[in-house]
Amino acid sequence: MLQIQENVSLKNFNTFGVDASARYFVEISHPDELTELFLDPQWKTGKTLILGGGSNMLLVDDFDGLVIRINIRGIEHRISHNDVFVEAGAGEVWNDLVNYCVVRGYAGLENLSLIPGSVGASPVQNIGAYGVELQEVFHTCRAFDVATCTFKTFNKEDCRFGYRDSIFKNELKDKYIITSVKFTLSLIPKLNLSYGAIEQELANRGISAPTVQDVSKVVAHIRVSKLPDPSTIGNAGSFFKNPVISPEQFNTIQSAFPGVVHYPAANGNVKLAAGWLIEQCGWKGKVVGHTGTWKNQALVLVNHGGATGREVYQFSSEIVDSVYAKFGVTLHREVNIIS
Ligand code: FAD
Ligand code: EPU
Repeated sequence: MLQIQENVSLKNFNTFGVDASARYFVEISHPDELTELFLDPQWKTGKTLILGGGSNMLLVDDFDGLVIRINIRGIEHRISHNDVFVEAGAGEVWNDLVNYCVVRGYAGLENLSLIPGSVGASPVQNIGAYGVELQEVFHTCRAFDVATCTFKTFNKEDCRFGYRDSIFKNELKDKYIITSVKFTLSLIPKLNLSYGAIEQELANRGISAPTVQDVSKVVAHIRVSKLPDPSTIGNAGSFFKNPVISPEQFNTIQSAFPGVVHYPAANGNVKLAAGWLIEQCGWKGKVVGHTGTWKNQALVLVNHGGATGREVYQFSSEIVDSVYAKFGVTLHREVNIIS
């Protein structure tokens, strides 16, 4: 029998550490419990929020609906020739899955080491770091259709992955609940060391023929030096996406600001480093009330203690306005805004 709790604090369920509460709260540890839950008309038609690790959301207000915390566990793998098919329950901690693979030498997830959150949320925004995106190792995911109470398997094309984007953030938002994800990994590593700091850090350690484990350790080391640990300072990683602009707009910006940090993007477009734009507007390390930006990474908004979701949201709007005023570029939030 499912235990539906009332008026539950979500402070320990979101990495921003915002003290919002849920009107109703339920924990799901088996996919079949979703059928049980949604056969009840009260929940089928009511307002719901799917919660994994709460590391990519900002709770602007108390949540006046049912929060469904996904805690479906289990990791299995099958080896076929040099391929390793790994399937994990949506409630597994992402980095536990990474470690499971890294210690066994299964290659593919090492650059995604130490990203907070759950396995189930990983396809939602096609998580990425250090030159690798989830879509490169994604096989399929299984998800519960809230409308029909049936399960569906999504392949890569179905998910319509993009930069920090997928169908689950758009057309299918709140319509499907991911219950497990399957990955295609390899026994033969094809290491991606393209992200400058990885090669530099390997060289610092005197490693010339890196293993999957070496890359994982180096990525973890770089991350810790740049990003605040949510267990000590509330945050949700990059608050905004890096904006992608046309080559014409880029040329205009580069003429005025020759130092603009940029990368090539699809179709000849240009991706700008949002952290650089925000720093140029004078926000880096600034403390504004209970919030601010991180001293080592201006793209990360932080809770210095006691910030409300609304305060962080308002602060983020000030940043959007000032970046637009200086560069004519609109920043879009990566973090899911929940109200
Ligand atoms: P949540 O915050 O719980 O949920 C995020 C969204 O997904 C919500 O809309 C939620 O409703 C939905 N969702 C969650 N679970 C499911 C499910 N099972 N089915 C359907 N929808 C679901 N991200 C990166 O891509 N790269 C990084 O390098 C990175 N670094 C980070 C560093 C720090 C310090 C922090 C705090 C965050 C970072 N993030 C990064 C963001 C975050 O870790 C990822 O987006 C992660 O995948 C979120 O997982 P979660 O379980 O916490 O999701
Ligand atoms: N920069 C600044 N000032 C800053 C921050 C960055 O000038 O305060 C410039 C620097 O030139 C730096 C460049 O921006 O070299 C890029 O910064 P960084 O390497 O930290 O990466 P990012 O573009 O800010 C992205 C992802 C991160 C991911 C890292 C590593 C987005 C929105 N963010 O950050 O993902 O970990 O690359 O791959 O794409 C997340 O999504 O939550 C996240 C943390």
